[in-house]
Amino acid sequence: PRRWTLGDIRRAYARRVPICVVTAYNYPQAVHADLAEMDIVLVGDSLGMVELGYPTTQFVTLEQMLHHAQAVARGCHRALIVADMPFGSYEVSVADAMRNVMRMIREGHVQAVKMEGGRRIAATVRACVQQAGVAVMGHCGLLPQTVSALGGFRSYGKNAAEAQTCLEDALALQDAGAFSVVLECVPERLARAITAALEVPTIGIGAGAGTSGQVLVYHDLCGLLSHPHHAKVTPKFCKRFARAGEVIQEALERYRDEVKHGAFPSAEHSPYSIPDREWERFA
Ligand code: KIV
Ligand code: NA
Repeated sequence: PRRWTLGDIRRAYARRVPICVVTAYNYPQAVHADLAEMDIVLVGDSLGMVELGYPTTQFVTLEQMLHHAQAVARGCHRALIVADMPFGSYEVSVADAMRNVMRMIREGHVQAVKMEGGRRIAATVRACVQQAGVAVMGHCGLLPQTVSALGGFRSYGKNAAEAQTCLEDALALQDAGAFSVVLECVPERLARAITAALEVPTIGIGAGAGTSGQVLVYHDLCGLLSHPHHAKVTPKFCKRFARAGEVIQEALERYRDEVKHGAFPSAEHSPYSIPDREWERFA
């Protein structure tokens, strides 16, 4: 199958077909996402939290993102792959950001990058798109990389000032050349208003039904870490479409029990034999 391009995204947006995005961080997840015919696969820096066990996304390095992006690229041949630029890889200077987005394309084997922020990163987005020729997705509303200044994970845009900031940031990203903007944890009414104001698709997460597309974290939607005795909770906005964590847990426990009781492996799973004649020569 041919890989999705920005042209395909534009056409889906023009026809008002919702754009479906899921995150993936490794080869099997990428294969699952591709077989499910996702439009976009996002190698999110949520990697840090759901795959690497860090408390925030601020710990994720560019090297880690490259390593995981490569694995996703090996499993995903149909969806457009977007990778997050991690904390510290694009804020210091435009030149630094340009070098790093080029590494993400060349070494991460992805088709586009995503950056958090609005007006403060507009010059960087413009340089990456127009000078480096790299497709950039923006990200407004809750910006997890800024959690320390924000004072914790929380929704964004619940008062007039924040709503105005969010709208102006999204417009600035579009103006700078972003092909799409993620809206994270903003009120549905605000997400609808921003979507109406923009001429590029919005991709919502915890932003209601009025955006041009949706994105969810693989682990959250599959219920990979939400079985009993595990502390990670599924976010309020996330629908859990499966209980994959419980299925895997049960498989591991049955395997353990069968090994402990001698039930595994049985003859059926002991396939290698040596002919009697060879055995006699050996013994
Ligand atoms: O890192 C991530 O998974 C993201 C999505 C939640 C949009 O940025
Ligand atoms: Na992210």
